[in-house]
Amino acid sequence: MDPALLDAIPLAAYVALDDERRSLRYVSAGIEALVGVPASELAAVEACLDALVHPEDRARVRSEVAGVCNPGDALRSEYRLLGRDGRTVWVRDQAVVGVDDRGSRVLRGVLLDVTDEHLTQRQLDGSDARLRLLTGQLPAVVWTSDARLALTSLAGRGLAVVAADAAGFPGPAVVPELERALAGESVSFPLSFGGRQFEATAQALLDDRGAPVGVIGVALDVTERRAAEAALVEREAQLREAQRLEALGRLAGGVAHDFNNLLTTISGNAKLMLEEIPAGDPLREEAESIVRTSSRAEALVDQLFAFARSGELAVEEVDVNSVVHDLEPLLHQLVPTGTTLVVSPDPTIGPALVDPARLEQVIVNLVVNARDAMPDGGTLRLGTSATVDSVASPGEPGCREVVVTVSDTGIGMDPETRARIFEPFFTTKEPGRGTGLGLATVHRIVEQSGGRIVVESQLGLGTTFRVVLPGSPADRPGASS
Ligand SMILES: Nc1ncnc2c1ncn2[C@@H]1O[C@H](COP(=O)(O)OP(=O)(O)OP(=O)(O)O)[C@@H](O)[C@H]1O
Ligand SMILES: [Mg+2]
Repeated sequence: MDPALLDAIPLAAYVALDDERRSLRYVSAGIEALVGVPASELAAVEACLDALVHPEDRARVRSEVAGVCNPGDALRSEYRLLGRDGRTVWVRDQAVVGVDDRGSRVLRGVLLDVTDEHLTQRQLDGSDARLRLLTGQLPAVVWTSDARLALTSLAGRGLAVVAADAAGFPGPAVVPELERALAGESVSFPLSFGGRQFEATAQALLDDRGAPVGVIGVALDVTERRAAEAALVEREAQLREAQRLEALGRLAGGVAHDFNNLLTTISGNAKLMLEEIPAGDPLREEAESIVRTSSRAEALVDQLFAFARSGELAVEEVDVNSVVHDLEPLLHQLVPTGTTLVVSPDPTIGPALVDPARLEQVIVNLVVNARDAMPDGGTLRLGTSATVDSVASPGEPGCREVVVTVSDTGIGMDPETRARIFEPFFTTKEPGRGTGLGLATVHRIVEQSGGRIVVESQLGLGTTFRVVLPGSPADRPGASS
């Protein structure tokens, strides 16, 4: 071959002994562009390729060279050459083992400058690593799947929360959405996985020609946000309800007051009329009806007063069991024969913080409701017990609470009724039998006392009301007595 031709092409051809040092027998002019030393100068000293390899790559290259020893073996390696002026070039070394005319094993090869390729690759590696870092830190799950929707990759900090079962992500429930994404739509959908809530979006992954080859999706973990939103909605609803009851209470108080004055006049005059109408006079019946009706109206006014006053509390430490005990005779009178009243106080409950007169009102209301729910008789249970506040923040000692339970084996409630029972004037009883103010009053008293009411009811199976009252602070575990 014409050496001039070899010297003309932008690579360095070489012949070197196939040993660790790779002593150069020949090198073409192209070497000067790589290491800044003319080929003639290299040939003059006893030059070897090994000395030109960057020190950091040398050990690796030596072992690669040692791996090719039989004639016909091919060496293919990439490494840096360290130039005379300190420059570094990446070369691809492709050589074949042969035997020269003196019978020595030699490597005949070419060195090609691949520095640019390496730079690009490094940038790619860098951006790849950055992307991995980014997706790894994203508070989301990023995933791809193939055209058959089988998972192909999964990343993101959100993974930690689905880790146990990550291979099953995003689950079969969202297949219809992913199919739409594969068909070219950009879809958003809610996603539940591993007990967490996500908001997800997905799109088709396209190949160079624009054909869909899979789906890429991003799912943001919104579990905490959803819970916070729900809590906020609930708090707002509670506040609105409290304000509504407050306004109603004031209105009821005002109306009851004026109405009470009118009623006093009506029933007073009706009674006077009765005194003057002789027995047997047909007018007596009308006058008696006025007296009867106005006394029902007075009972209603009393309830309105009770509701209106239920917001004003005289809270004190109350032994709930003794309130129950004192009420028992009255309760037995309220309950008809055919209904069994079982009273079971827990002697260990400790005092509650409540207005004792209002507590009586609460118990009587609940017992009357329970009685009314058992027109054919049944069992009415009234009990007390203690719990530890389950909504106390973790780490805080839970506050003891006192629970009054009233349960019946009566008609129960459907969910629609159950949802409305605390509304003022909501009643399912026939006109004249219920005002619908009982539970509204109970609710108001309990809320104002810092307690809560838990209701369990099933149609036909009875109802249980649990009134949870705050225990007295001296009763908190750990508090000094
Ligand atoms: N123990 C119960 N079992 C079944 N339904 C009940 C029970 N307690 C209450 N309810 C339902 O809740 C409704 C409202 O009760 P609430 O005590 O507020 O009013 P009321 O009993 O109808 O009238 P009143 O103002 O005379 O008490 C009742 O009409 C009834 O439908
Ligand atoms: Mg009632």
